[in-house]
Amino acid sequence: MQVLAARNIHKSFPLAEGRLSILKGVNLTVEGGEIIALMGPSGSGKSTLLNILGTLDRPDEGSVSLNGEDVMSMSDDALSRFRNEHIGFVFQFHHLLPELSLWENLVLPTQLGGTERDTSHLDELLEFTGLTGRRGHYPHQLSGGERQRVAMIRALANRPGIIFADEPTGNLDMENGDKLMDLIQALRESEGQTFFIATHSRQVAEKADRRLLLDKGVIKFTD
Ligand SMILES: Nc1ncnc2c1ncn2[C@@H]1O[C@H](COP(=O)(O)OP(=O)(O)O)[C@@H](O)[C@H]1O
Ligand SMILES: [Mg+2]
Repeated sequence: MQVLAARNIHKSFPLAEGRLSILKGVNLTVEGGEIIALMGPSGSGKSTLLNILGTLDRPDEGSVSLNGEDVMSMSDDALSRFRNEHIGFVFQFHHLLPELSLWENLVLPTQLGGTERDTSHLDELLEFTGLTGRRGHYPHQLSGGERQRVAMIRALANRPGIIFADEPTGNLDMENGDKLMDLIQALRESEGQTFFIATHSRQVAEKADRRLLLDKGVIKFTD
């Protein structure tokens, strides 16, 4: 089943004079359970595209559908509900709050959502990533790889169907980058989740099912 389709996405940013055109007609589709690596040189617009596909930003032109729903036609309220329910995000910098323990960092977003949520899935994910014993640790007491796994778990708390990750291994060494990709592959196997990963890393690209190259504002399918 198709979980993501983008048609003719255009995006430009204002310059002192005129506009800087970054995306010039991006088309792509992603099937459920795929792991996609979005490649492309720095400044090519990977983060811009990821934010648009993840509904954090709106394109100037074009359409995005997620789970068959046209997200561009939704009101801001409907869109934030949709995002909370269906989409997870992981960034290069883990954005864990330093004054909160690992566990507090994980439950905070679910509490901000207004309702206390079932945390049993968080327990499972901690077990799965070998972090159960670290629940009381603060971010500075964790390694970079562990912090990034916590950021991944946080993104998965609400069991989103699709996870957008922007350079998730950008701050990790090879070994921890591998571990994060192993986790992504294992999650895909157990939960059938879809991962859309913007990355520079050959290592990440090799472990993806499919690689998309963003070049001069359009997608060139590499394979
Ligand atoms: N909010 C913004 N305002 C102005 N320019 C932006 C903005 N966001 C990104 N850009 C510019 O768009 C280009 C693409 O950025 P980005 O999507 O971050 O590329 P990548 O993630 O591939 O490195 C860059 O030249 C960047 O400076
Ligand atoms: Mg980027």
